[in-house]
Amino acid sequence: MQKVRKAIFPVAGLGTRFLPATKAIPKEMLPIVDRPLIQYAVDEAREAGIEQMIFVTGRGKGAIEDHFDIAFELEKTMGERGRDLSVLTSTRLAPGNCAYVRQQEPLGLGHAIWCARDIVGDEPFAIFLPDEFMVGAPGCMKQMMDVYDRIGGNIISVLEVPHEQVSSYGVIAPGASDGTVTQVRALVEKPKIADAPSNLIVSGRYILQPDVMRILERQEKGAGGEIQLTDAMAQMIGNQPFNAVTFDGRRFDCGSHLGYVEANVAIALDRPHLGDALTKSLRQMLTGR
Ligand code: UTP
Repeated sequence: MQKVRKAIFPVAGLGTRFLPATKAIPKEMLPIVDRPLIQYAVDEAREAGIEQMIFVTGRGKGAIEDHFDIAFELEKTMGERGRDLSVLTSTRLAPGNCAYVRQQEPLGLGHAIWCARDIVGDEPFAIFLPDEFMVGAPGCMKQMMDVYDRIGGNIISVLEVPHEQVSSYGVIAPGASDGTVTQVRALVEKPKIADAPSNLIVSGRYILQPDVMRILERQEKGAGGEIQLTDAMAQMIGNQPFNAVTFDGRRFDCGSHLGYVEANVAIALDRPHLGDALTKSLRQMLTGR
């Protein structure tokens, strides 16, 4: 079984739901408390043993490259002032550990993944959607990688949502289950509630075999006229092992205002220097006391 060494971070979307915040900065640079979303995703990848981070960027996404580079002036000045530099140095990605490729037009998530095909080569790879913010110990990708190391194939992360919410998501048709691992029989994008084959939704983390690139190569358009990753994955089911791992942790949809605000509150409550003060102030806001 080939080790998963590379991960793709598709960050070329327009982020229209967060305008005007995302007019000049990428959505993936929005902070959860004090770290940008993309940093949490990269840290999750490192924890899972990923060695090379491949960012699929677009125009106006230069802040992401700067974020993972050396911040020379900041490091020099802070060093001279005797400040702790680890907050800066821990975010660096060395040249061999990162690569950037441009998606020239936002033609869909599937197209973004395909843009990285030459850097990925003929080996399995992970995908992270950074605006799906996954909080777990171990992290979501580590949970998936532990399963991959046992059974290989294609693995996606899923989680349960209340049945009435399924229409907003990709949903799996589940087969046999063994602990947290469920066989995937089919994938349905945004089904009607009555048609949904389960309440297990696909949640922004994937380990895929390189064959998916050959399907994406055909550039077939799906929902919304976009080249969809879900459609390409659906074509692999039946030809290749395809399983889902139910994520043990919390997930926040940081592509939406509510999920983004909830994530900030949740992470702040977990921070030792913020938790107590925030609890007090939230209680006051909610009860007027
Ligand atoms: P979203 O559907 O959240 O789209 O994409 P978006 O453009 O980021 O945000 P809104 O809906 O306009 O507010 C899911 C993920 O796929 C990437 C996005 O960057 C995001 O990480 N993506 C999407 C691309 O890289 N390229 C695309 O063509 C589409």
